[in-house]
Amino acid sequence: MDTPADIATAAVALKAGGLVILPTETVYGLAADAGNAHAVAKVYEAKGRPAFNPLIAHVADVAAARRLAVFDDRAEELAAAFWPGPLTLVLPVADTAAVCDLARAGLDTVAVRSPAHPVAHALLAAFGGPLVAPSANSSGRPSPTTFADAMAETGSAAAATLDGGPCQIGLESTVVALLDRPRLLRPGAVTRSQIEALVGPLAEAEADAKRSPGRLARHYAPNLPLRLNVEDPRADEVWLGFGRHGGAGFNLSADGDLAEAAANLFAYLRAADLSLGAAGIAVAPIPDTGLGEAINDRLRRAAGFVG
Ligand code: TXA
Ligand code: MG
Repeated sequence: MDTPADIATAAVALKAGGLVILPTETVYGLAADAGNAHAVAKVYEAKGRPAFNPLIAHVADVAAARRLAVFDDRAEELAAAFWPGPLTLVLPVADTAAVCDLARAGLDTVAVRSPAHPVAHALLAAFGGPLVAPSANSSGRPSPTTFADAMAETGSAAAATLDGGPCQIGLESTVVALLDRPRLLRPGAVTRSQIEALVGPLAEAEADAKRSPGRLARHYAPNLPLRLNVEDPRADEVWLGFGRHGGAGFNLSADGDLAEAAANLFAYLRAADLSLGAAGIAVAPIPDTGLGEAINDRLRRAAGFVG
């Protein structure tokens, strides 16, 4: 685990334009100085990420976010309720230098989030400015939820690395755009109903695909083909079970607990992918309620059904 000295070293690396493997409560990120276009370019290169897909600016607190983005009442309310935590807000950009054009993919909006993980928080405080931090996977692959997975994906591109242990949530943040009507661009750990309780009904991302460029590609994909809603896997498939639909292979949560399933999802997809002799991965049905919406979203994209 990291020490305050590791945090200080990582902050120095960021100031020098280097990249840092960073734990958050959702997934591991690959962090860079959001205002340094050269550093941000290294992030896109390390991930093999298309430059039209913008990055999230991570900030220490809501005061820092207000310097980057135009906050309205809805943004204030959501930030007060869920920050620090797994919620990203897409808002009109207020400072186009602090989060450079490349980080925003040239958009006049900016995505901001204040992460809850103590190591992420300590690094943001030590660095003293916004950090972009996409999930630390190669573009299109499952997000890393352990330090080892993050190192295997993009560790070679990092000037400094921080080990914060396994990620508690295991799925990326919920992304909500507050540009016109509130819009759910990516379901996540903060659920639809939690957000709707504060800002009213959420419009769908698909109705406005240009506003959520990162949602177009096949994503989170293992190498083996993935079949969903399987109650009866084939002999040559690895089965990712859930609740009573589960057997010899991996069970995302034997108790049928969606939070446990979310925390296990990407690590189990990676592990199943390495099963010798398997022709595919079959996933048991996951209820579409609460956190299940985000789990099923990632599974559909991993299976290539969206975009
Ligand atoms: O939980 C998380 O959000 C993690 C951790 C590391 O903080 N980060 C993460 O970043 O998932 P990334 O880059 O893998 O996903 C960012 C998502 C993408 O779908 C991207 O298209 C969207 O946010 N996004 C970023 N800026 C946007 C903008 N201005 N408008 C619309 N979507 C935006
Ligand atoms: Mg990602």
